[in-house]
Amino acid sequence: MKITTKIILSIVLIVFVTGTILVAFSANTQKRLIEEQIEKKGSVLAEIISVSSIIPMLNYDYSSVKLYFDALSKDSDVLSGELLDNNYIVKMHTDLDRLGEVNNPGIIDEDLKSTLVKKDTGTDNLVRYEFYSPVLVEEEQIGIFHITLTSKSYLNVIKLVWVKMILLGAMSLMIGVLLAFFLGNQISKPIKELVRGAESVSGGNFKWDFVTNSNDEVGKLARAFRNMTERLDKNITSRIRNEKMAVVGQLSSVLAHEIRNPLEPIKGSAELLKIYYPEEKQIIKFAGIIQEEVLRLISFIDNFLDFAKPRDPEFRQIDLNTLIDKTFILLEKMIDDKQIRVDISADRNLPPVTGDASMLKQVILNVILNAIQASDRKKGLIKVSTGVNSGFAELVIKDYGKGIEKVSLDKIFDPFFSTKAEGSGTGLTTSQRIVEQHGGKINVESEAGKWTMVQILLPLSALQEEKIINE
Ligand SMILES: Nc1ncnc2c1ncn2[C@@H]1O[C@H](COP(=O)(O)OP(=O)(O)OP(=O)(O)O)[C@@H](O)[C@H]1O
Ligand SMILES: [Mg+2]
Repeated sequence: MKITTKIILSIVLIVFVTGTILVAFSANTQKRLIEEQIEKKGSVLAEIISVSSIIPMLNYDYSSVKLYFDALSKDSDVLSGELLDNNYIVKMHTDLDRLGEVNNPGIIDEDLKSTLVKKDTGTDNLVRYEFYSPVLVEEEQIGIFHITLTSKSYLNVIKLVWVKMILLGAMSLMIGVLLAFFLGNQISKPIKELVRGAESVSGGNFKWDFVTNSNDEVGKLARAFRNMTERLDKNITSRIRNEKMAVVGQLSSVLAHEIRNPLEPIKGSAELLKIYYPEEKQIIKFAGIIQEEVLRLISFIDNFLDFAKPRDPEFRQIDLNTLIDKTFILLEKMIDDKQIRVDISADRNLPPVTGDASMLKQVILNVILNAIQASDRKKGLIKVSTGVNSGFAELVIKDYGKGIEKVSLDKIFDPFFSTKAEGSGTGLTTSQRIVEQHGGKINVESEAGKWTMVQILLPLSALQEEKIINE
């Protein structure tokens, strides 16, 4: 059974049981109150009329008591009322046709000194209350007043109350069901979220959109689970990255010894060939090719060794704006060739940062190079801005190029991840490592086909008044 159904059933059951108990309790209370009322009314009537009957009975003139009997016959609670003499002859009756009849109620005690009450349920389920009150003259009984009351009119009122209570009960049940639906959904939402998350993680996907904002224990549990999987995901990613870097490190020593070292004598030998055979055009030509290619290889391997065996930064105070300007000078030709517009909005009051200028220059170069490579000819626009953000110096580089697909966005910092034919996939890995070595952060956001934004945050220098060294 689904959790929502369980919650709905429980709430409906609670509402139903509570409602039934309340209705039963209130019905019982009402019945008791009504009984008390009727008994009080009957006793009072019986006593008043029996006392009022003394003089009429002594005088054999019943006209004055008739008024009471007329009033009694109009009372819907009174079934009958009669005044009997000691021979049980009806002297006055709510039904005048019965005057003169002999009516022995059979229960009359000769020595009745006060009102006697009898209660009896008839075949019609109606409770009858009989009151027998003696008409006494100096302790001597000269007659008896007998009145019968029912709770019929009260029962009608009770029936009405019951109908209203049942309607009210049905309404509360309906409200209960609606409430149960609402609560059931509220409670089960984060649980469903949790189930979805667990399924997603077991399927190998550590990321899932978390939509509930429920703040109860289950909501908190779902959020904690999501945070845990996120951390796990980051942990796994960084472990894979570290393992790759370890392999790269081992590979780099082989590269340095077995390839980089012999390249120098090859380059030197080509140089010597050119010197020894200055007249031999073919030799000059092929030695030139050897030299060029060896230089390309040396530069590639040096870059790779740089990436694999990073050095420690030499911290100085740096003006970020100047560093950006200098980097753009290096890229001027590329930007001109692609006819890309560059829009720099620098915060000229930006405090200095503490960093290694050449390493930070490499970061800026990598990011801007990516932006240039992603931009279309002529249509390209690169926006660069600097400022202070949450206590960090912030550099934002935004291009309106091809953007990054969602599936690639998680991998761009991975070593050797590249979508470019000529790319080595080390640019952003190196940049991230350098920024982190500086105690900063690098974040990338992108919309495929539209734009990419790289945010670099670097800690501000603690000694800002010191001389700013620009490399
Ligand atoms: N501004 C950008 N616009 C679009 N894609 C980008 C951008 N910056 C990075 N990328 C994506 O991230 C990948 C990794 O970038 P990274 O700089 O690490 O490597 P690369 O540019 O491919 O090669 P290289 O090592 O020569 O820099 C790129 O191949 C590209 O797919
Ligand atoms: Mg790159």
